[in-house]
Amino acid sequence: MYILGLESSCDETAASVVVNGSKILSSIVASQIDIHRIYGGVVPELASRKHLEAVVPVVEEALDCAGISAEKLDGMAVTQGPGLVGALLVGFCFAKGFAYGLDIPWIGVNHLEGHINSVFLEKDVPEFPFTALLVSGGHTSIYYVTGHTRFELMGQTRDDAAGEAFDKVSKMLGLGYPGGALIGRLAQNGDREKINFPRSFLDKTRFDFSFSGLKTSVSRYIQTNPVLSREQICDIAAGFEEAVVDVLCFKLLGAAQKKQCRHIAVVGGVAANKRLREKIVRQAENKGLQVFIPGTDLCGDNGAMIAAAGYYYLKSGLVSGMDSDVYSRVAL
Ligand code: KG4
Ligand code: ZN
Repeated sequence: MYILGLESSCDETAASVVVNGSKILSSIVASQIDIHRIYGGVVPELASRKHLEAVVPVVEEALDCAGISAEKLDGMAVTQGPGLVGALLVGFCFAKGFAYGLDIPWIGVNHLEGHINSVFLEKDVPEFPFTALLVSGGHTSIYYVTGHTRFELMGQTRDDAAGEAFDKVSKMLGLGYPGGALIGRLAQNGDREKINFPRSFLDKTRFDFSFSGLKTSVSRYIQTNPVLSREQICDIAAGFEEAVVDVLCFKLLGAAQKKQCRHIAVVGGVAANKRLREKIVRQAENKGLQVFIPGTDLCGDNGAMIAAAGYYYLKSGLVSGMDSDVYSRVAL
């Protein structure tokens, strides 16, 4: 089945052609970061307008790069939520019209299901059941995954998402938006042990997260040390990153142990973090677990993960109706 996946939930307009939920023929991502950077975060109205400009060229490019015409498509999958409503509506309305025009089935997909299914776009894939850590700008959750469309939420953040904490700390340090990749780069030159920021494990037998205390602690440190050298900024980045990574690894490994899973996955924008990738692989190996993390291109928002998630619904004959709507928040 040739599926076109379309993603427009935040600040990336992305389209991709994927065969049978696993083989990527093309994946085009038009990022709006340069537009939002000057405002220090995503401006919803600007995001919608930029999606409107980009959606047709991005879909055309995805078909071009895949070397197929639209008539070859067997179906279409589009992000239905969660996300910015105005941004989602652009992709969603496009999908309705496009699928109607081609007379092909289409399905609205949960963005988080897309992230989890991104692991199936790689060569080595996990076996069910596995535990997945979803770490992005809007979410930090652990799921027990028993099938491509079957998830049990084991825990989630009570306040900030991990990516949001990265972005806020980056802002405090005057580094800019989005902060995750910037902090990650500086952290590599910092001393991870110099500043011991607090790790919030909450109840160690449960799988919820909290990053607001850590964020406040970084903010206080910056207030008491108002003039920071480059070296100190790197140490703050390294200390902060280490605190986040330690908690993420601890909770994911604990969840895998509780469910007795041999396979674990890390997905979402923060899964691109080098330190997180290194540390979870090392700690998992010590426990005899196998870790699956998509390549960095597939960690951030993309259309391929939406096509991958949509495939399993379309294959079983499930489709969305023309009266279906987007949603800004939804539990998975
Ligand atoms: O999955 P994603 O692209 O969008 C959402 O669904 O939210 O995730 C974006 C988040 C941002 O908060 C960004 O700062 C973070 O992922 N991020 C990183 C890295 N690259 C992106 N965080 C830590 N280290 C990175 N290398
Ligand atoms: Zn995302």
